[in-house]
Amino acid sequence: MPEPTGLRLGPMATSKIAPSLLAADFRCLERQLVEVEAESDWLHFDVMDGHFVPNISFGIPVLRSIRPITGLYLDCHLMTTNPDAFLPELAEAGADLVTMHIEAIPDPTDAAKKSRENGLDFGLVCNPGTPFAAVGPFMELADVLLIMSVEPGFGGQSFMPNVLGKVEEAREWVEEHGLATDIQIDGGITLQTAPLAASAGANVFVAGSAIFGAQDPSTAAAELRRAIQRQ
Ligand code: DX5
Ligand code: ZN
Repeated sequence: MPEPTGLRLGPMATSKIAPSLLAADFRCLERQLVEVEAESDWLHFDVMDGHFVPNISFGIPVLRSIRPITGLYLDCHLMTTNPDAFLPELAEAGADLVTMHIEAIPDPTDAAKKSRENGLDFGLVCNPGTPFAAVGPFMELADVLLIMSVEPGFGGQSFMPNVLGKVEEAREWVEEHGLATDIQIDGGITLQTAPLAASAGANVFVAGSAIFGAQDPSTAAAELRRAIQRQ
C-alpha cells in the first residue's frame, strides 16, 4: 500500500465519520443507531436496485422509519439507474443528501437542479474505474464528491489503493477552485486505510464493517475518528 503523502485539507474541510447502515444488525437497528450517534457525523444509507449494481438493499420505508430515531445527517448513496426518479419520496422520508453515480446520470446539471428543488443536498459518485475528469466539469454543482474505493454493491470488500491518486486530484481541484465540496471515500475503510485516504485529501469516511462489524460500534467510530484526525 502507498505511503500517505501528507497532503493537507483546506480551511473549509472538516473531517466526518459516516457509518454505513448496510453493515448494521437489522434486528436491533434502533440500538445500533443510538450506539454510533455520538461518535458519528453522517449516516450512510446505501440504496441498491439490483440493476445498476448486482445487489438489492433497502429503500424509502426504511429511511422513513429511521429518520425519527437519529439526528445524524442522512446521506443517501443511490446505486440505482434513474437515481432522480424518487427525489420527492426520498426528501419526504427524511434524506438530507443524495449522491448519484456519474455513470448513471446523463445530465448532472439537471440531476443537481432536481435534487435542490426537492430540498436535498446533492453529490456525485465515481466508480473506481471512472477518472476524475468525468466529474471535474460538474464539481461546482456538488456538495459532495464520493470516490468509491471498492466496486459498488457489497460491503466487506478490500480497499483499492489505486483510487488514492484520484482523491488527491479531487482535493487539489477543490482547493484550487476555492470550493467547499466534501470528498467522501467509501469501501474498505478501516483504521489502516482511513489515514491513507485522509492524507490523500478525503474528509468524509464511510465505514460499514469497520464500525457495525466491531464488538463495540461506538468505540470503533471513535477510533476511526482519531485515526483520521489532522496532525
Ligand atoms: C458498497 C457500499 C458501501 C458499503 C461499505 O457498495 O456503497 O457503503 O456499505 O462497506 P464496508 O465499509 O464494509 O466496505
Ligand atoms: Zn455506499
